[in-house]
Amino acid sequence: MAAVSDQLRVHGTVRVPGDKSISHRALVLAAVAHGSSRIEQILDSADINSTAEALRALGASIPPLGPKMYVQGRELHSPREPLDCGNSGTSARLLAGVIAGAGLSATIIGDDSLSRRPMNRVAEPLRAMGARVETAPHGGLPMTIEVGEEKLTAIDYESSTASAQVKSAILIAAILAGVRARVSEPHLSRDHTERMLLARGIRLERKATSVSVAPAQTIKPADVRVPADPSSAAFFVGLAQLADAGELRISDVCLNPTRTGFLSALRRMGATLETIHLRDEGGESAGTIVAVPSRLRGTEIAASEVPTLIDELPLFACLAARAEGESIVRGAAELRLKESDRIATIVKNLQTLGVTAEELPDGFRVVGTKKPMQGRIETQNDHRIAMSFGVLGCVAGNAIEIDNPRCVAISYPDFWTDLGRAHQ
Ligand code: S3P
Repeated sequence: MAAVSDQLRVHGTVRVPGDKSISHRALVLAAVAHGSSRIEQILDSADINSTAEALRALGASIPPLGPKMYVQGRELHSPREPLDCGNSGTSARLLAGVIAGAGLSATIIGDDSLSRRPMNRVAEPLRAMGARVETAPHGGLPMTIEVGEEKLTAIDYESSTASAQVKSAILIAAILAGVRARVSEPHLSRDHTERMLLARGIRLERKATSVSVAPAQTIKPADVRVPADPSSAAFFVGLAQLADAGELRISDVCLNPTRTGFLSALRRMGATLETIHLRDEGGESAGTIVAVPSRLRGTEIAASEVPTLIDELPLFACLAARAEGESIVRGAAELRLKESDRIATIVKNLQTLGVTAEELPDGFRVVGTKKPMQGRIETQNDHRIAMSFGVLGCVAGNAIEIDNPRCVAISYPDFWTDLGRAHQ
């Protein structure tokens, strides 16, 4: 059980690791580009190593992940063994697009959590383009993709969920196969793929929540410096809100507007947040977030803003547990399909700590309290659950134990060290 302190004071500047979404895409796009790409500050975590390892099995030349690495694009081939994507949904879904688009055959497998997650959302559009795709009977992994002699065909796809992984898989498959594609989604999901494709010479047209790529294009190599991950930065922004004193600066954070919903929600809750040193970083905006302790009030998250803070909702729930009044999240049924059923995991763990919390079919309700919290968190091996409750555990008077702290290695291997340095 963590030591109970009587004051939480934050201090210093944290540079959290590179953005996970951009890191996956930097590897995938470099592997299929015509030439050599330099990648700086890539995230070196379990999920990104899953993408790297799978690309190597497809014949790509990917050196060990490091702060400055070079990837030479190559023609890929079908792998001899199944591609193991570990815990990583982004690896599985993006690579499905690569395999289909490059006309290869492969089976994708993953750990227990990933095997349960829905793959039909990528299987369906890839089938509509002419690939043979078979999923396990429950619609998850293993998923086998085969492309026959026939080339893939163009697609105009209305996605029923706002999923950047689905959108990216279709765009990548279409570009590699040289065909036209249009994808529209109910709300705009993160748009890193679109920005990175534009930076690699791809003609792409964007209109509100739809995007199209023209046929017969090749991906040029590009150098990328990966900005810090806003989803990892969020833990430190949240820590500062819950603190009694001090100030925390989180530097070099990707501030792409499709990723900043957590900051907007916090401002609505009464947080004072400043963004400074703003600049453009390879088609993405980045800057330093200055966060200070605040008295938070509960708020409501609407369906339309969910895609902009989907991965931050476990942390939002932990902050809501310390806010004044009630907070409600709706339109977030996707949370049930993440590394764990995050609606169930969040609510059950908050209840363990004595917080009033309730599951909704597509979200949750939390009532804030100032009472000290004590208990053991069952993370379900979900990295974002571990880190969110880890932050709540820093609050003066709280004593929270995390059942498997090591699961943070999925996205942020040094999280506990950085968290320890940011407060006293
Ligand atoms: C991601 C997209 C989101 C997000 C995930 C990373 C990506 O998932 O939750 O952590 O890199 O494309 P969906 O595409 O399922 O919305």
